[in-house]
Amino acid sequence: MSAIRFGLLCGSSPAMLSLYRQIERVAMTDATVVLEGESGTGKELIAQSIQLSGQRSDKPFVAVNCGAIPAHLIEATLFGHEKGSFTGAMRQQIGYFEYASGGTLFLDEITEMPPDMQVKLLRVLECGNFHRVGGSEPVQVDVRLIAATNRSLNDAVQAGSLRQDLMYRLAVFPIFVPPLRMRDNDRELLAKHFLDELNQEAGTSKRFSRQTMDQLGRHRWPGNVRELKNLVHRAFILSADILTLEIPPVGDKKIPTVVDGMLDFTIGTALADAQKEIILATLHHHRGNKRLTAETLGISLKTLYNRLKVY
Ligand SMILES: Nc1ncnc2c1ncn2[C@@H]1O[C@H](COP(=O)(O)OP(=O)(O)OP(=O)(O)O)[C@@H](O)[C@H]1O
Ligand SMILES: [Mg+2]
Repeated sequence: MSAIRFGLLCGSSPAMLSLYRQIERVAMTDATVVLEGESGTGKELIAQSIQLSGQRSDKPFVAVNCGAIPAHLIEATLFGHEKGSFTGAMRQQIGYFEYASGGTLFLDEITEMPPDMQVKLLRVLECGNFHRVGGSEPVQVDVRLIAATNRSLNDAVQAGSLRQDLMYRLAVFPIFVPPLRMRDNDRELLAKHFLDELNQEAGTSKRFSRQTMDQLGRHRWPGNVRELKNLVHRAFILSADILTLEIPPVGDKKIPTVVDGMLDFTIGTALADAQKEIILATLHHHRGNKRLTAETLGISLKTLYNRLKVY
């Protein structure tokens, strides 16, 4: 098992190797990217890695959490405002778009952006300019946009929290970020990587207990890489020499984990759930190659496309 690194990312599972290939390709372009993945899977780190692998690497990377800005401030925050444009606007202020000029703007939790702002964002993406709040002159910026969401884009459109036209515009290059339970062998690699970092910082040489390494594949990791990183940190603080991670006991394993190329299901798992996990795990195993996935599963390419659309 080699400790493969790419940009700021660590991981050597087929799912991650496929991700590296996609990052490498898209980093060379200015295409808008949308990252879709569960919380803690590394979306922000991937956005930074795209920036670092491309021609904008020495330019600013500005991250904005759309869910954390009050709705009435979001326009001025993103686009800036002119002096006197509203009460308290004592002077001109530039927004995140201008801060990110020449570089990358990362819009996290894009589905939390109010619908009227989504219209304005779409306009910027279409014509490359915008107005500061209270401004009459358009401001031209060269910014690469990367958006992220921990919901499915299709679900967000269905639920009315993402405009369909914006979804199509963002999804020029969609990247699905695999959950940790789908990354065979990466859990051990990542745990060691985080421990190495902590050891280096503290000048220590703490190690994991053998049993800890064996346990990593038995947990579903709902909090993904963040959960693993925090567990390692906690164990590092609590242990003098040998670390034992406090991995929660095996619960109801309706959703399986990929360990050593195998999926283990609890008897009683619904057939539809099992089928979905088998299809997704096989797709990751073949690094996103749909033709090979359909062949391996013994289904037609059309059936595979239909299933993936539903998922
Ligand atoms: N492949 C990886 N290699 C090394 N560190 C990682 C990797 N993926 C994630 N991390 C680390 O795990 C933590 C969570 O990652 P990040 O914040 O990028 O997740 P996220 O998908 O943006 O989560 P959220 O949806 O909650 O915003 C960070 O500390 C990040 O540095
Ligand atoms: Mg994030």
